[in-house]
Amino acid sequence: MNYVVIGNPIAHSKSPQIHALFAAQFPDHPAVEGFVYDRLLAPLDGFANAVHEFAAAGGRGANVTVPFKEEAYRFAAELSPLAQAVGAVNTLIRLPSGDWLGDNTDGAGLVADILRHIPIKDKRILLLGAGGAARGVILPLLGQQPASLTLANRTFAKAEQLILHFQANTSIFLRACEYGALEGNYDLVINATSASLSGERLPISNAVFAPNALAYDMMYGKAETPFLAQAREAGVALRVDGLGMLVGQAAEAFELWTGLRPDVAPVLEWMREQLQ
Ligand code: ATR
Repeated sequence: MNYVVIGNPIAHSKSPQIHALFAAQFPDHPAVEGFVYDRLLAPLDGFANAVHEFAAAGGRGANVTVPFKEEAYRFAAELSPLAQAVGAVNTLIRLPSGDWLGDNTDGAGLVADILRHIPIKDKRILLLGAGGAARGVILPLLGQQPASLTLANRTFAKAEQLILHFQANTSIFLRACEYGALEGNYDLVINATSASLSGERLPISNAVFAPNALAYDMMYGKAETPFLAQAREAGVALRVDGLGMLVGQAAEAFELWTGLRPDVAPVLEWMREQLQ
């Protein structure tokens, strides 16, 4: 049984280790018999070809990462309702017909990881960023019935556009905001911007964090991320980076392929040790 993670670049991907650890949790189970998971580097203009070749070689499922998630959305013959709403695919599942079904497990991975720390129901959420990462998690967050979701972004128009897109199908209070215009405080503050990549801090005030707030950074790294440093300095005790989201989205994909739900905790612990 062949699985891959497709991206460009891909050498850094931890997905093969994560999936090997998941598969090892089910020794002798027929659903993971011969389970092999590799990295697949696709040329920037060769995503579809790479998937076709993988399929011809017996490929059963693929994770899709940067920069191919939108292309995978256009490529998939069928789409889950979530992938449809998000406009991006991070998991491909080979159907018995030979066609590929596209799904998106990023948001479910985030939600599962947050729920390991706090419930989301009735919480006031502040989501920072309005790019692909933010777009992928809005519906799964709304599925947890928060009290409200505020989306703040450097480019206000992008936040406004995203809110308009999701507002039609929910009764939950949604709003778009500029960083400088944020008022009040939030129980759950999630960084979905890529500002950390350039080591930059976000122009948000310490007051956005409610007492007992959870600060969640979708980024992770060996060192504390700039956003979590900002949260620590604001006095936020509960701070979580995105390593658990990475393992969580992988767990959702593994379950889609095998029907087996792996235990995330020991794999996350192992991944954390690797970062040291
Ligand atoms: P991704 O797929 O990771 O979401 P993206 O679609 O390029 O990547 O989106 C990047 C997000 O990070 C955007 O919300 C971007 O803000 P703009 O829409 O205003 O560009 C945000 N971002 C990146 N660098 C930032 C910075 N230094 N300060 C604030 N926001 C930043």
